[in-house]
Amino acid sequence: MKSLLLFGATGDLARRMLLPSLFGLDGDGLLPDDLRIVGTARSDLGDDAFKALAAASLKDFIEPERLKPEAVAKFIARLRYVRLDVSAPDQFMALRDALGESPADGLRIFLSTAPSLFGPTIAGLASAGLTGDQTRLALEKPLGHDLASSRAINDAVATVFPESRTFRIDHYLGKETVQNLLALRFGNALFEPLWNAQGIDHVQITVSETVGLEGRMSFYDEAGALRDMVQNHMLQLLALTAMEPPARFDAASVRDEKVKVLRSLRPIDSLTAPTHSVIGQYGAGAVGGQPVKGYAEELGRASNTETFVALKAHVDNWRWRSVPFYLRTGKRLPTRSTEIFIQFRAVPHSIFSGPGAALQPNKLIIRLQPEETITLRVMLKEPGLDRAGVRLREAPLDISIPNAFADSRRRIAYERLLLDLLDGDPTLFVRRDEVEGQWTWIDAIRAGWAANGMTPKPYAAGTWGPSAAIGLTERDGVTWHD
Ligand code: BG6
Repeated sequence: MKSLLLFGATGDLARRMLLPSLFGLDGDGLLPDDLRIVGTARSDLGDDAFKALAAASLKDFIEPERLKPEAVAKFIARLRYVRLDVSAPDQFMALRDALGESPADGLRIFLSTAPSLFGPTIAGLASAGLTGDQTRLALEKPLGHDLASSRAINDAVATVFPESRTFRIDHYLGKETVQNLLALRFGNALFEPLWNAQGIDHVQITVSETVGLEGRMSFYDEAGALRDMVQNHMLQLLALTAMEPPARFDAASVRDEKVKVLRSLRPIDSLTAPTHSVIGQYGAGAVGGQPVKGYAEELGRASNTETFVALKAHVDNWRWRSVPFYLRTGKRLPTRSTEIFIQFRAVPHSIFSGPGAALQPNKLIIRLQPEETITLRVMLKEPGLDRAGVRLREAPLDISIPNAFADSRRRIAYERLLLDLLDGDPTLFVRRDEVEGQWTWIDAIRAGWAANGMTPKPYAAGTWGPSAAIGLTERDGVTWHD
C-alpha cells in the first residue's frame, strides 16, 4: 500500500487546496487505488474528526455538481490522521505504525508547516525509517527568508533526501497559463524570431491582489511583498519568459535554462536600489467599493514591511541586452490580476500619415488571473473610405483559454503538482540552484534598501501603489499596463 503523508494537514493550504486537489485527482481516477492519505498535525483529532474536516473543506471549495456522494465517500475512505508533535522524536514511531507494513515503500511526503519544523520533521522521519530510496519529499514555501536560511533548510533536507527526490513547490508552476507560456513560446514559430532585444522593447510582470493580510499577520509582516511574491512566483514567471529554448521538455533541460536566467539578473544593490525599486505600504482606502483599514491598523502596530514593490530588472545576456523587465506586485491594489505584458518594438518606418494614423507597437498580454487569456494587440484599419486619410486602430486578437478548451475542466494548480509528485516528475518543481539564485538577487535588493535607509512609501488601499512606482517606468517613457 502506498501512502501520501501530509504534514500540516489541518492548515489553510490543506483545506483550501490540497484536499480539494486530491479529491479532483481521485474523481478522475488518477490516484492509485491503494493510495492512503495520512494527515498529521499537532491538533488532537482522530480519524473521524479529520475526515469531517476534509468533508467540510470539499464542501467549501468544490463546485456542488462535482460533489457526488460516492466520490466523496471513496475519497474520505482514503484518509487517516495521526497526531504528531514533530519536536517529540518518539512520536514518529506511532506514525510509522500507522503507515502499516513496509511504510517507506512508495511513501510521498508533503510538508506544509513552518520552516522551523522542517529540520525536526526530517530528522524524525529518518529516525523512524521513513526516508528510504523510494520516498519523495515535497516542500511548500517559505523555504527560508534569505539565502543563508534557505541554504540551511536545503542542507538539512539534503542530509536525507537527494535533490532528485526533493520537490520544492512554487504553486505558480502548476498554473495552466504559466505552462502555456512554454507552449506559446516553444510550440509556435511566430514568436521566437522577435523574442529578444531586437523585437521587444520591454516586459512588465504584474501580480496585483485586492486582499490584505488575510489573518497571516506575523508571517506576512516578517516576509513582505519582495520575499512573499517576487522571490518565488514573479522570478519564476520572469525566468520562463526570458529563458532560452530548452532542448527538451524535461526537468533537467527546463530548469537548466531557468537557472541561467536567474544567474543573469543584474543585481539591484546599494547603488541602484533607489532608482530601480519602489516600496510601498497601504493605508486606509477602499477596494471594490468597500472601505478597508490600512496595513498598520490591520496589524495593530506600525511596521516597515512593504506590501507593494516595483522593480526595474535586467537580464544581462545577449538576448535581453538593455530590455527592462518591470515587476510589480502588491496587496490592496484596485484589481486582482496577474499578467505578463510584452511590448514589442515599433515598426522601423511608418508608411501612414495623418492624425488618425499613429501606430502603437504590438503587445502580447498573457493573463493568468482572474481570466486566463492570451491577447495580441495589433494595428488595423478602421472601416471607411479614408477621405480624410487612413484611420488606424489597435485591436485585440484574443484567446480565452476556458472558451478555447471548453471541454476540459479548469484545475487547481496543486492538482498538477500533487500528481507530478506521485508520478515522480520534477519538471514543474524548483531546483536548489534556482532557489538559491532567486535568494541571491533578493538579498542584494534588501541590502540595498537597508544601505539607503529606504522605507515603504504610503499608498491608499485601492490604488496602484505609491506614485513613485509610476515614476519608475515613466522616466523610461513606459506606462504600466493596468
Ligand atoms: C502566496 C503568497 O504564495 O501566493 C500570498 O504567500 C499570495 O500572499 C498568493 O496571496 C497568491 O497566489 P495566487 O495563486 O492567488 O495568485
